[in-house]
Amino acid sequence: MKSITVNASKTYLVEVGKGLLPTVGARIAQLLPPPRKIMLVSDDTVASLYAKAVLTSLQEAGYTVFSFVFPHGEASKNTDTLIDLWNTMAEKGLSRSDIAVALGGGVVGDITGFAAATYLRGIACYQIPTTLLAMVDSSVGGKTAVDLPHGKNLCGAFSQPIGVLCDTDVLKTLPDDIYADGCAEVIKYGYLGDPTLLSWLENSFESDSARVIARCIADKRDLVQEDEHDNGNRQLLNLGHTGGHAVERLSNFTISHGSAVAIGMLLAAKAAVARGICPPNVPLHMEQTLRRYRLPTVCPYTAEQLAEAALSDKKRRGDRITLILPTDLGKSALFPVLTNDLASLFAAGGAPQ
Ligand code: NAD
Ligand code: GLY
Repeated sequence: MKSITVNASKTYLVEVGKGLLPTVGARIAQLLPPPRKIMLVSDDTVASLYAKAVLTSLQEAGYTVFSFVFPHGEASKNTDTLIDLWNTMAEKGLSRSDIAVALGGGVVGDITGFAAATYLRGIACYQIPTTLLAMVDSSVGGKTAVDLPHGKNLCGAFSQPIGVLCDTDVLKTLPDDIYADGCAEVIKYGYLGDPTLLSWLENSFESDSARVIARCIADKRDLVQEDEHDNGNRQLLNLGHTGGHAVERLSNFTISHGSAVAIGMLLAAKAAVARGICPPNVPLHMEQTLRRYRLPTVCPYTAEQLAEAALSDKKRRGDRITLILPTDLGKSALFPVLTNDLASLFAAGGAPQ
């Protein structure tokens, strides 16, 4: 098993390994010992696969456990589900000393984290991510949120979990497309700042996923510790996301987040070469890596379409947006640019005109 310590406004452990689900009760008991109430939150797909093992472990450790299950998918990450969850916590009499446990992908993790951050002005939240994306990204770092009709993650809070448990065995039941989405985020860590990870990714990591997942988490930990509230280098985690979000929106979300980020990363790398800040081997290397993990590399939208869609990006500040551009293999930097320049940058990145 691998352990990563995150020292942010809270200090907590992220544990990664095989066969960890049945140990969750004992692990939480070391942090906040029973008797206490736990609200176990999951979506219907994940609950049918893994809730029993987690519930049994929590009960055997001495907790009183209640369950809240909602339909899987991004459409559930809304204020209706949040209010149902708050009400269920109140109905079951959860107090300040009780705990919310998120068992699922990023949707479950984000909504549970936000409910826990706000119920009674904050109760503890423990994360058990079950997708590759949630293990390497959303469960760590304390960003919690729900979507509003106006856009994704528009309402949320920074609130660090008390612990994170990644049982890599659960990745075996992930559909291929959801696994590939996670691979795009793993690859992102390599190009934003980890050349060693890039060398590891030359071979499939499925048989030794804990090593790669722990490496990504350690990379994210370093950025979160430096810039917990996302005003500086934490934004490096957005590599590929300005173009990616534009692609997602233009496709009406029929192109998955991971596929869109893959396209966005390559646009960024090619634009960086065109602007003379990155050597040309970087996009070539990136294209090969993305293909190896069966991710798309061709942008189906024009530079003008992308620029217009990027204007509604949360990262925009007035007439500027901070782009993350690769500057070498395994190195990237923040570049504030004028929104008026976006179309020419996307065109330089190879988007059709
Ligand atoms: P998700 O939570 O919707 O999970 C994807 C699908 O996989 C769901 O249908 C789920 O039921 C299913 N699933 C989950 N685990 C499974 C398993 N082990 N076996 C079989 N099926 C399983 O999506 P996601 O990709 O995990 O997360 C995306 C969300 O994460 C978005 O809402 C995004 O905004 C958020 N996010 C948050 C952060 C953050 O820092 N908080 C970072 C990145 C993404
Ligand atoms: N997923 C981006 C962040 O946590 O900052």
